[in-house]
Amino acid sequence: MYKYLFLTILLLTCNLVNCQKPGALNPEVHPSITWQECQEGGKCTSKNGEITIDANWRWVHNDQGSNCYTGNTWSAKDCPDDKTCAENCALEGAQYSSVYGVTTNKDAVRLNFVTQSQGKNIGSRLFLMENETNYQMFYLLNQEFSFDVDVSSLDCGLNGALYLVSMDSDGGMARFPTNQAGAKFGTGYCDAQCPRDLKFISGEGNVDGWVPSSNNPNTGVGNHGSCCAEMDLWEANNMATAVTPHPCDTHKQSMCDTDACGGSASSNRYASICDPDGCDYNPYRMGNTTFFGPGSTVDTKSVFTVVTQFITDDGTTSGTLSAIRRLYVQNGQVISQSESTVPGVSGNEISQHFCDSQKEAFNDPDSFNKHGGLAAMGDALKDGMVLVLSLWDDYFAEMLWLDSSYPTNADASKPGVARGGCSTTSGVPTDVESKYANAYVIYSNIKVGALNSTFTQHK
Ligand SMILES: *[C@@H]1O[C@H](CO)[C@@H](O)[C@H](O)[C@H]1NC(C)=O
Ligand SMILES: *[C@@H]1O[C@H](CO)[C@@H](O)[C@H](O)[C@H]1NC(C)=O
Ligand SMILES: *[C@@H]1O[C@H](CO)[C@@H](O)[C@H](O)[C@H]1NC(C)=O
Repeated sequence: MYKYLFLTILLLTCNLVNCQKPGALNPEVHPSITWQECQEGGKCTSKNGEITIDANWRWVHNDQGSNCYTGNTWSAKDCPDDKTCAENCALEGAQYSSVYGVTTNKDAVRLNFVTQSQGKNIGSRLFLMENETNYQMFYLLNQEFSFDVDVSSLDCGLNGALYLVSMDSDGGMARFPTNQAGAKFGTGYCDAQCPRDLKFISGEGNVDGWVPSSNNPNTGVGNHGSCCAEMDLWEANNMATAVTPHPCDTHKQSMCDTDACGGSASSNRYASICDPDGCDYNPYRMGNTTFFGPGSTVDTKSVFTVVTQFITDDGTTSGTLSAIRRLYVQNGQVISQSESTVPGVSGNEISQHFCDSQKEAFNDPDSFNKHGGLAAMGDALKDGMVLVLSLWDDYFAEMLWLDSSYPTNADASKPGVARGGCSTTSGVPTDVESKYANAYVIYSNIKVGALNSTFTQHK
């Protein structure tokens, strides 16, 4: 039985007396949030949802209430190996506002970047739930997803990300009976990087081979990673943004082992069953440096609506995904995604042709096609995906792949290198966490439905 837990933040010293009261100190009470489902023509129905915080942020303790994980290391006694760790350790309920800086208000959720309580919490990763025990599944083929976002305080190095992943709706409880915490406690995370910093994967601890991070006091990397398809609707700060599909050979959550996980923690970035790079549309990287930012066409100093449309080849929900289209709405104006000005790449939407020509123009490895391309992303969308809302900083690449020139040693005038106006020395987590401690992101007014149904088009 695995009621695991953990806490990435640095909450360390829990008051043991309090901690021993099971469920009494920290009952898991999900903050509520409303969202809307819209029909063709624009009629929308309100839905009552709730959010949960990812298990990786939670306090993990044994039956006596002492930490199974402290700082970035496992307790040798409670967690001698993956299976025993899952048996011994439990995941605690979360204090959303005071510990994690997460609050909701009607249709809005606010994620604060740094929250100081007994410990210091950095960012968060949340999931939208249908009810107390199951994640909300979204089926977006031939549909659109829209939300409002406030990125005004997200400076260089921060990333407010709203995206979809092919997690199990129950967090993996049915497939992995040793996971007794389930979606309620934010278990089952996976993405196309096959992350190895997760404390529990597929009903087991990720203790074997765990190497504490050299620069992050809260994290480490274990032998296992958790892979699944990922559709990044939105990764942004106030300087840059990208929309990026990442397909996988098998889109559902699956566990990988050491170097076969690929990604930044393994010797070969491209070794996994997933596409870690994706096919990104970042207006700045596609040649328009004045489209998105403070005072730009899409002005990041104030709130705007982000619409993402999933077009199929036959105009039905069972067709093949043929394009991902982006619109913005700000001050009542509908703004189309900027057009590519990169030689050899045309258009303003993600299609298979766009991806093929972009990879060629930028001379990037084509892991997107290797893992099925846009059609494979469509297969994942057809099966339903879970909504993730997050705010993070980047201990591996300082977010320079999103908002600066990257790789930093490449010629910034070469197509594909410049992605945003941030300096190549920006985004260092220690700087960001001190300079922008008060940063936050607000996601609100989530609407899902038929194409063109979630926003008003002005003629
Ligand atoms: C929660 O949602 C799941 C998935 O739709 C459903 O199977 C389950 O019965 C629901 N539980 C409750 C308590 O409504
Ligand atoms: C950038 O996008 C805006 C809005 O679409 C457009 O008016 C402007 O001409 C574009 N700039 C370039 C360099 O393409
Ligand atoms: C949505 O609106 C755009 C722009 O007005 C239009 O080109 C497109 O055909 C519309 N799509 C649907 C399915 O109504």
